[in-house]
Amino acid sequence: MKLKIENLTKEYSGKKVLDIENLVIEQGTITAIIGANGAGKTTLLNIIGNLDSQTTGKVSYMDHDLIKTNPRAAMTLVFQNPYLISTTVEKNISYPLKLRGWSSFDIEERISQLTRELGLEKLRKRKTWKLSGGEVQKVALARALSFRPGLLLLDEPTANIDPATTGEIERMLAKINKEEGTSIIIVTHNLPQAKRVCNKLIFLNKGKLIEEGNSGEILKNPVNSLTRRFIEGELLV
Ligand SMILES: Nc1ncnc2c1ncn2[C@@H]1O[C@H](COP(=O)(O)OP(=O)(O)OP(=O)(O)O)[C@@H](O)[C@H]1O
Ligand SMILES: [Mg+2]
Repeated sequence: MKLKIENLTKEYSGKKVLDIENLVIEQGTITAIIGANGAGKTTLLNIIGNLDSQTTGKVSYMDHDLIKTNPRAAMTLVFQNPYLISTTVEKNISYPLKLRGWSSFDIEERISQLTRELGLEKLRKRKTWKLSGGEVQKVALARALSFRPGLLLLDEPTANIDPATTGEIERMLAKINKEEGTSIIIVTHNLPQAKRVCNKLIFLNKGKLIEEGNSGEILKNPVNSLTRRFIEGELLV
């Protein structure tokens, strides 16, 4: 999915928290959104995912206005603390497929594939309230990927996850991107992760896009002094 953002602003009680003139996310890319706490990352992700509305400006998917079409048919958002349905792991993964009218055969194939690739096979019948935090995150990812979205939006998907599970999730994202062409946007504070997983990086500061480009290049040699200070570990105030 290709995404185009033009003159996007968001205000809360008259205070502007997002102000992006121009941003294009190309089809098939994995993009990291980086920035300090309160920079507007989640707000931007929620607007792209159509869970929140902008104050002014436009978000377009290819040539369609996201606001006018049915974005949920083509994209999905995974929250930092995902909400799973109080039933089994496999019923959570199959839920979006049943909504979309997939056959039982196709649903079974997809659940088998996703649970195998994410190491969830033994947990298929487990009730979701008996899962660990890392398992919850993996089930939420499997559910989000189930219907092969064109765009996957992730808000700090590995913030509280151990390195081994983080690795599993990162490998899954790379695989899905490569094999199914899913565009992915990840909000993350984990700069090595941005370098490992993402080919593009955008840096937000106080709601403005101050640097964008190739993730490896920006992390090695940021042009903007605020980006440089952030990457070097300084707090932006
Ligand atoms: N519903 C809301 N009402 C009022 N202000 C809000 C609301 N949601 C977010 N904000 C404000 O908008 C700004 C951007 O918030 P946002 O959650 O997008 O930041 P973020 O970059 O995701 O931060 P973090 O890294 O802490 O998750 C912050 O100043 C926040 O307080
Ligand atoms: Mg946030």
